[in-house]
Amino acid sequence: MRVAMIGTGYVGLVSGTCFSEFGHSVTCVDKNPDRINSLLRGEIPIFEPGLDDLVLRNVKAGRLSFTMDIKAAVANADAVFIGVGTPSRRGDGEADLSYVYAAAKEIAEALTHYTLIVTKSTVPVGTGREVERIIRETRPDAEFEVASNPEFLREGAAIEDFMRPDRVVCGAGSDRARELLRALYRPLYINETPILFTTLETAELIKYAGNAFLATKITFINEIADLCEKVNVNVQDVARGIGLDGRIGGKFLHAGPGYGGSCFPKDTNALAATGRKFDAPLSIVETVIDVNDKRKGRMAEKVVAACGGSVKGKTIAVLGLTFKPETDDMRDSPSLEIVPALQSAGATIRAFDPEGMHEAKKLFKDIVWCDDGYETATGADVLVIITEWNQFRALDMEKLKTLLRAPVMVDLRNIYKPAEMKQAGFRYYSVGRPPVQ
Ligand code: NAD
Ligand code: UDX
Repeated sequence: MRVAMIGTGYVGLVSGTCFSEFGHSVTCVDKNPDRINSLLRGEIPIFEPGLDDLVLRNVKAGRLSFTMDIKAAVANADAVFIGVGTPSRRGDGEADLSYVYAAAKEIAEALTHYTLIVTKSTVPVGTGREVERIIRETRPDAEFEVASNPEFLREGAAIEDFMRPDRVVCGAGSDRARELLRALYRPLYINETPILFTTLETAELIKYAGNAFLATKITFINEIADLCEKVNVNVQDVARGIGLDGRIGGKFLHAGPGYGGSCFPKDTNALAATGRKFDAPLSIVETVIDVNDKRKGRMAEKVVAACGGSVKGKTIAVLGLTFKPETDDMRDSPSLEIVPALQSAGATIRAFDPEGMHEAKKLFKDIVWCDDGYETATGADVLVIITEWNQFRALDMEKLKTLLRAPVMVDLRNIYKPAEMKQAGFRYYSVGRPPVQ
């Protein structure tokens, strides 16, 4: 099948590449010339493990190409996916759909034959119908249908998630559209991955409800972690104890500094806005947003407390700035609030992130940038782990002690064991776990 993928960000580039790996002929389109030019040079503009090899292999095989020419890409496609951004709109938290609607208009102008137009972007209920209306208004003569196929991949594990998903959700209104989607996902369909066919609106809502549920799960365990700290209980034991109940499940129960990233914060806000719009208040989601927002500031307070109540004049070594490991994405990362709060409290920040530095340098001010964990720790009064990159999981504690001014660590991802850290001679603070006396 011939596919056009509009938008080559984290979702568009991964999905387009994976569809080409499935054997389809895929043209990825972006209006950002830097992005397309770097892809044409064989350089991948984002960090996503395994993506570079997969892109190069499929480009070489002639199944994957990149262009800014949306007209030609759409004219040659059986299915056109819209994978552009849907960021939070300033003020009301609703999804900004301007990129989706602009893409819909451009697609409409380029249609030459029956085409299935599929929204892969995360969009509020009703967006697919509006895309349909825009295309119909722009091109009353065009033969097309609109479907919804939300994407559930996680950054850092995007290829695996796309290739081996728990399920594929397709909102489609006709047999023809369903057949096309089934053919697109044929390798998964053959492997008996559940492919759920629903209405357009249902597919749109499944995506938001799924993300909000996961964000709620994380926020729930984060609050339980706060309680654990007060009652001398280890949150990891509680998470295991509840997670083994099949009705709850053990995933997404890692307590930490609060969820971040390009999806959970904006999607919970957009879902809450949809609830308000339809007079069906989603008070759990509203509370999750509020609790998670406040948590980031509370993590800065945790660092201040670990430093004896003040960080004025102190030097803090920060390891990890991205919202999670294995990505260079800084969008809504907890570090964006924790680091400036510590700077405002008078601290000097030394920092390092394995893949996020390029982006981070544009977002933070007055940071002493370092090249690895040990350089970051040199001369610091405390070491703070914000993101659990693998390379931070086995630091040489003896070496760290010689580099730090004092052996103090605040581990916001619980990647070390309190007993081991005590043994190593550290004053060690983590999330929801009692310190070893
Ligand atoms: P992104 O910001 O990384 O990329 C979007 C790309 O679309 C940009 O390169 C932009 O230049 C391009 N674009 C915008 N308008 C265009 C147009 N008219 N024509 C061609 N290109 C255009 O976004 P992303 O993180 O890939 O997210 C895309 C969508 O997928 C969002 O709705 C998001 O919520 C959803 N989603 C994201 C993830 C994730 O992990 N990032 C996961 C699931 C779903
Ligand atoms: C998320 C969804 O998981 C994915 O299905 C959707 O398509 C896009 O949004 P992503 O944001 O890439 O994916 O990463 P994810 O692994 O879900 O982590 C999101 C945030 O939650 C990160 O800040 C992470 O650190 C945090 N998190 C996750 C926790 O704090 N605890 C957990 O147990 C899991």
